[in-house]
Amino acid sequence: MTNKKTLNVGMLGYGFMGRTHTNAYCQVNHFFKTQFNPVLKVCYGRGTDMAKLKDFQSTWGYESIETDWRKIVERDDIDIVNVVSPNFLHHDMVIAAAEAGKIIICEKPLAMNVKEAEAMAAAVKKANVPTMVSFNYRRVPAIALFKQIVDEGRVGRPFHYRATYNQDYTISKNVPSGGALWRLSAKVAGSGVTGDLVAHSVDTAEWINGPIERICAHTEIFIKERKNMETGQMEQITIDDACMFLAVFKNGSIGTFESTRYARGRKNYSSMEINGEHGACYFNLEDPEYLDFFRYADPETGKKIEDHLTGWQKILVTNSEHPYMKNYWVPGLTIGYEHTFINGLADFFKSIEDGTKFSANIEDGLRTQKVCDAILQSAKEKRWIEIN
Ligand SMILES: NC(=O)c1ccc[n+]([C@@H]2O[C@H](COP(=O)([O-])OP(=O)(O)OC[C@H]3O[C@@H](n4cnc5c(N)ncnc54)[C@H](O)[C@@H]3O)[C@@H](O)[C@H]2O)c1
Repeated sequence: MTNKKTLNVGMLGYGFMGRTHTNAYCQVNHFFKTQFNPVLKVCYGRGTDMAKLKDFQSTWGYESIETDWRKIVERDDIDIVNVVSPNFLHHDMVIAAAEAGKIIICEKPLAMNVKEAEAMAAAVKKANVPTMVSFNYRRVPAIALFKQIVDEGRVGRPFHYRATYNQDYTISKNVPSGGALWRLSAKVAGSGVTGDLVAHSVDTAEWINGPIERICAHTEIFIKERKNMETGQMEQITIDDACMFLAVFKNGSIGTFESTRYARGRKNYSSMEINGEHGACYFNLEDPEYLDFFRYADPETGKKIEDHLTGWQKILVTNSEHPYMKNYWVPGLTIGYEHTFINGLADFFKSIEDGTKFSANIEDGLRTQKVCDAILQSAKEKRWIEIN
């Protein structure tokens, strides 16, 4: 540890993502040889949550707590500002961090809308600071292998891409809005499943299959009023409970995307499939260590290799040849959700060490925001929208 450069971390938020990101800082040097030693310097939470904030501090070992996030950003001894707060705060936090010259890690969706995201990207460009937007599913080994197989030409010319991201936790009309369920309030979240879940599907789709050129969407609000747990009053729900859209990719393939929080039985069903001339891949996050691959033709010659033994191969993505896996256990032993954040942090640190461009960065976050805004606009105006 002694030769490593210290990077002091200011964590802006201490909820679900506060835990996953903090765990990544704690674990990254146990599994990857990085040149940095992250130090858990300070975590932020509102003054209203002092008991929870203190519990988070002691559980994870932060040196101090702070109830004014701007004071963290202004501190000279903070190197990384890590934004894991609800979406409406990302804009101000990222711009302040960029102006203070900090390394920035920000959760998705990058912002409430494109206007905010553009201002954030401009501030980062001006400050020229490294950024990571937390599209952590790129760091699931099986999804990284999915991309590798596509990049190797094993799928050939792609025809179809389809993605789902389905959950079921808001089906009851008794689920309140506000407070911990800020995702149901437009003023705090910006949008519903589109920013929360579809953003992940879009980022992964464009990473694997290239840019989406145009889309046509429909969104639905199934339960239009809920009791706000903070005010006790009924409030109108304006965020999208479900979203479906058709997509045309620049490479000529076509896609379907579906996301909802009303798919009874589905907890975190993020799936993706590509069907090409030479082969196909399928992945499902509820079965995360497996990648399904169908091989029809040799990628070099295009010659058909399908015979009576051909079928979908279920690849257990745990070998040392598979992305990230040599850093963990022995073949056959799996890793989990939390490792996607560790893998992402290791890649981000490596890019800072090497001076190379990290992806997904703020520009990638802005790009996804453009697609998400187009989806919401298309649903509202009931028409196809070109993504510029
Ligand atoms: N990458 C992923 O897979 C993933 C998963 C979940 C959440 N997220 C994103 O991470 C961010 C945080 O989500 P989360 O699930 O950790 O949320 P959370 O509700 O678990 O935690 C949010 C944190 O912000 C605080 N907070 C809540 N309302 C606030 C307010 N009005 N003002 C100031 N602080 C407030 C909470 O006390 C808590 O510390 C969101 O942008 C979300 O979209 C990403």
